[in-house]
Amino acid sequence: MLLDTSDYSVCMNSNCKRLKSFSAMTVKTLQRTVVCVGKKIKLIEPMVGDEELSLVKEVLESGYMTEGPKAREFESGFAELVGAKHAITTTSCSTALQISVDAYGIGPGDEVIIPDFTYPVTADVVRLRGGSAILVDVSETTYNIDPEEVRKALTDKTKGIMPVSLFGHPLDMGPLREIAEENGLFIVEDAACSAGARYRDERTGSMADMTCFSFHPRKVITTGEGGMVTTDNDELAEKAREMKKFGMKVVDGKWQFMTVGTNYKLSDVLAAIGVVQLKKIDAIIGRRRELASIYDELLEGNEFIGRPETGNGVFHIYQTYATLVTKENSRDRLIKDMGERGIETQIGTYSLHVQPSFSNVRRIGDLERSTRLFENLFALPMANSMTPEDQEFVVKEATDLLKSY
Ligand SMILES: Cc1ncc(COP(=O)(O)O)c(C=O)c1O
Repeated sequence: MLLDTSDYSVCMNSNCKRLKSFSAMTVKTLQRTVVCVGKKIKLIEPMVGDEELSLVKEVLESGYMTEGPKAREFESGFAELVGAKHAITTTSCSTALQISVDAYGIGPGDEVIIPDFTYPVTADVVRLRGGSAILVDVSETTYNIDPEEVRKALTDKTKGIMPVSLFGHPLDMGPLREIAEENGLFIVEDAACSAGARYRDERTGSMADMTCFSFHPRKVITTGEGGMVTTDNDELAEKAREMKKFGMKVVDGKWQFMTVGTNYKLSDVLAAIGVVQLKKIDAIIGRRRELASIYDELLEGNEFIGRPETGNGVFHIYQTYATLVTKENSRDRLIKDMGERGIETQIGTYSLHVQPSFSNVRRIGDLERSTRLFENLFALPMANSMTPEDQEFVVKEATDLLKSY
């Protein structure tokens, strides 16, 4: 139960031992302070409710539960959002990435350049087909791929670049496009975290040859599980549609199996959630940006925790508010101790080259920045229901803990 008065708010969990030790008098004296005793502060809370329920109900009652009209509606709304000609639903961002790499026919002997700091599946879709992922370092400020490192990785086997717009920070695609054009490479962007992001006048989803999104519950909009590929290229779109649907397409008025394919269709039950979520995306992003700007203020001048940087023209959607813990070797302990205080925090993401599965993968340089981010990035809670006082509490607890180490 959350008690709120104009003077203080106390979060009360009746089972909380610490709360029971507070007398009524103590609570009364805590004027203009917040006690989040027993309150769980979550990393993220999907913004779903009655509207999603009602559209899912409509789908269930229609009896048409596989991919159908709701998926088409979700696709056209999403294409409009990102400014792309085609949007193709899939079961996840992973399967969206897979059909994109497959649309380019990546296989043994092919090399694809990938940032070392990402979720492993960005590279695994290439490796699953027998291609080679070449790992390069990222920028320490944007956490995105460093184009200078991409240049160092080029060989005559390089077929493409798979940059990641990490945590909702859009890519500056200009330098990557230059490299791709000079060397005849494709760009498949992993924008799992970045629906709604923009760089200058370009929208994520319309900058790369193909862009892949995730609708996992930690992302800005969710369908539970789900994904999307966007592209302006008719041929790539057709290939992607074919592959996700058993390799079928209509030829001479008949469904025929034209290529090797599989089933990555998004059920209309889930697409219905996406249709509603799309209507809310501006509000969700607005709220994320508000939470981020409060953290920015709270962290100004902080001795132990940095602030994520955004350059000119960056419209960051803050899927994750990830910032560096500047006190070395304390991030993991901090996450654990914050958890014990009911505050859910996380690492940023993974440095691939230190994962056992990547031990033999070719890399460029020592990947020092990626390693530092893997060891020290700290993701703060971005739950919709958080109050400014909750955010103040989070920063204070983290700072006090770091001071005590
Ligand atoms: C950068 C990145 N790419 C891909 C994925 C995989 O997305 P999905 O869970 O939709 O397959 C994730 C998941 O967190 C991710 O962070």
